[in-house]
Amino acid sequence: MEFSVISGMKGKQRTGCLVVGVFEGRKLSPAAQAVDAASGKYLSEVLKSGDLEGSLGKTLLLHKVNKVSAERVLLVGLGKERDVNESAFRAALSSAVKALKGTGATDVTFTLTEVVVKKRDIGWKAEQAVLCFMEGAYRFDQLKSKPGDTRRPLKSVTLVTDKGEVARAETAVERAAAIGEGVSLAKDLGNLPGNHCTPTYLAQQAVELGKRHGFKVTVLERKDCEKLGMGCFLAVAQGSHQPPKFIVMEYHGGKKNAPPVALVGKGITFDTGGISIKPAAEMDEMKYDMGGAASVFGAMKAIALMKLPLNVVAVVPSTENMPGGNAIKPGDIVTTMSGQTVEILNTDAEGRLILCDALTYVEKYKPTAVVEMSTLTGAMVIALGHVATGLFANSDELAAELIRAGDKAWDRAWHMPLWDDYQEGLKSNFADIPNIAGRAGGAITAACFLSRFTKAYPWAHLDIAGTAWKSGAEKGATGRPVGLLSHFLVSRAA
Ligand code: BES
Ligand code: MN
Ligand code: ZN
Repeated sequence: MEFSVISGMKGKQRTGCLVVGVFEGRKLSPAAQAVDAASGKYLSEVLKSGDLEGSLGKTLLLHKVNKVSAERVLLVGLGKERDVNESAFRAALSSAVKALKGTGATDVTFTLTEVVVKKRDIGWKAEQAVLCFMEGAYRFDQLKSKPGDTRRPLKSVTLVTDKGEVARAETAVERAAAIGEGVSLAKDLGNLPGNHCTPTYLAQQAVELGKRHGFKVTVLERKDCEKLGMGCFLAVAQGSHQPPKFIVMEYHGGKKNAPPVALVGKGITFDTGGISIKPAAEMDEMKYDMGGAASVFGAMKAIALMKLPLNVVAVVPSTENMPGGNAIKPGDIVTTMSGQTVEILNTDAEGRLILCDALTYVEKYKPTAVVEMSTLTGAMVIALGHVATGLFANSDELAAELIRAGDKAWDRAWHMPLWDDYQEGLKSNFADIPNIAGRAGGAITAACFLSRFTKAYPWAHLDIAGTAWKSGAEKGATGRPVGLLSHFLVSRAA
């Protein structure tokens, strides 16, 4: 999909569909007023008939409006003019995108970017518009024998802004298109089921990504991991017939010897729970247990497309978590790469077991910060639902930086406590630490476990269990937190 920016609505704009706004009380947005004037008050007349009051998210499609060169005009309800905030803008945006999908228009002129949104500038509006259009165009039908949707797809979108804002809009559009590509990649990897998306497949994808974008990729095999002493990662992998892969990507956009930012993503390509096996209901969704890895891949693609002047190292420990004759058993004790021993009381708490070795591994890069994402705990979903990602950090500065990035990207995270008091539960009679504590505060004690391996650098953990995918009728990967990560890295590069 192509995106461009123009200043002001040209009355004679040729386009498949012109999208304009209507506020509550049938008040026309500036672009709608222009259409109304050109058409001899046709819009006002239609609105008088009561077909659209301007309530948020309602739409009305008009064809061949007299004296207007657009083939179609889509009116989009914006709600009360003084109430247009981020959520309202996004609601209007997504209903516009949905309504457009039902038409044959292949190019669109979109004027809602002119609407004033509280606390947000043109950069934010343009980025959200691009991401929403890309989201609307996203399909995952590679595993259907026939494509599900044969309607003509949108090819180009022109955003309309005020004259003084074109340059800023263009910068935002370019960045958003890169982020959108990263989001799509993360969604594809997430949606691909466990029999296709294996650790080997992820490793191949990393190698290809590195080739296409010119960064270095190394894949450590089981033997290599054994030599490094990654006993905890390999313990999870030993129950699976799929070989584990420890994937390392190194993007050098910054100064030659400048220490990198490190990204770490949980890459469990399927989580059965292992011997502590999960119940059958919705277990298919555990194909998304590599959502952290997927977002790391997506962020790497986005920053490569943006050619960010920054060094970034990305690490993805990848394996399945399976039951089997050789699988780990509750009570087993293994030695991590850090030397600490872990009593595995529940084999379903496997994410932390593969991440702890990855977190020790990245120490060698002397990273300026380590950001690790994982679909780590069901408790996180209970705590924050599907809106905010849970953020834990051993540095309040890094936490604040990531919260800001998430706010800019509208891929929001919420700062959770990581107080020492919560460490109490991590006591084992037989090893240095157990891999689980009690049920209370499960997302926090999981973060506490990880914190035992991250003393050497500023570290943040994003628990994306509630935000990496959607369940139900709209089941599918969301591509989160690629937006947050991209903005974080953009600000680090500045
Ligand atoms: N991948 C799951 C977490 C998960 C569960 C994410 C459901 C999204 C939805 C993780 O490996 C897991 O199983 N965690 C356990 C930990 C428990 C055994 C301490 C959990 O949350 O139940
Ligand atoms: Mn699990
Ligand atoms: Zn898991």
